[in-house]
Amino acid sequence: MSGENASQATRRDARTLLDTAIAAADAAAIFIRKRSGDPGALAWIEKSPADFVSEVDRGAEQRIREIVLGRHPSARIVGEELSPDALADVGLAFIVDPLDGTTNFLHGYPEYAVSIGIARDGELVAAVVVNVPFGERFIALRGEGAWRDGAPIRVSHIADPGRALIGTGFPFKHPDTLPVWQAQFGRIMLVTAGVRRAGAAALDLCDVACGRFEAFWELRLAPWDFAAGLLIIEEAGGIVTDLEGRPVALTHGPIVAGSPTMHSWLLSTLADPVGAEP
Ligand code: IPD
Ligand code: CA
Ligand code: CA
Repeated sequence: MSGENASQATRRDARTLLDTAIAAADAAAIFIRKRSGDPGALAWIEKSPADFVSEVDRGAEQRIREIVLGRHPSARIVGEELSPDALADVGLAFIVDPLDGTTNFLHGYPEYAVSIGIARDGELVAAVVVNVPFGERFIALRGEGAWRDGAPIRVSHIADPGRALIGTGFPFKHPDTLPVWQAQFGRIMLVTAGVRRAGAAALDLCDVACGRFEAFWELRLAPWDFAAGLLIIEEAGGIVTDLEGRPVALTHGPIVAGSPTMHSWLLSTLADPVGAEP
């Protein structure tokens, strides 16, 4: 055996896994792009109110499965459409959103992505998000950094909320949380440069990682929505937690993300009892 030590072997392993994820995400992006010309012609069904799936979501996930399992037969795939109940925190898991921003895709609104996070025993080690319409590719490797199309990225330096652009997601799948979100939105909108809701959480998180957004919050996301973006933000110098500032597990839950300064500001502003319901 060569003089390779354990941490070098771990890094090599993560790079191999990332190469697989990139190949799978690129293949899915090509598949999706070819079907983007006339999305109105696609068959799509409503999983729950305002939550759709099409043959493109499923076809993209099938391609990702074939590539990942062809290279890593013992890997587990936690995929939104084909295997959502697989465990993300045991062994080697590829956490896959084959098409994040399905509603945007179905309307030809150019904001949708393929997102793949890779975890070993619950710890994210590598990630890729491909912005399908624009072809941008974000990647991260734990302990090594985050990149957009090969160039290193960092979170924003803007520390003044009055100059900050904040991303969010509407709680359309969980209307019970709408009053809480509306109160939070009101507090944040009034004191920042703006709030944006683009409709693809994986891209929202990449926008935090590369400094387009200073921070982002959504009251409930699935692991396939945020796994890749979480690692990309952390490796770009940002912070991702739940609403109490705790580390995020690879399960459904709230996400608060941002540069260190703006994450801290957003956490306290979201919790502000002044605007809360009595
Ligand atoms: C959705 C998008 C949206 C977010 C939802 C997600 P999908 O994912 O990321 O921005 O607000 O919570 O479910 O269904 O398009 O893959
Ligand atoms: Ca999603
Ligand atoms: Ca999806």
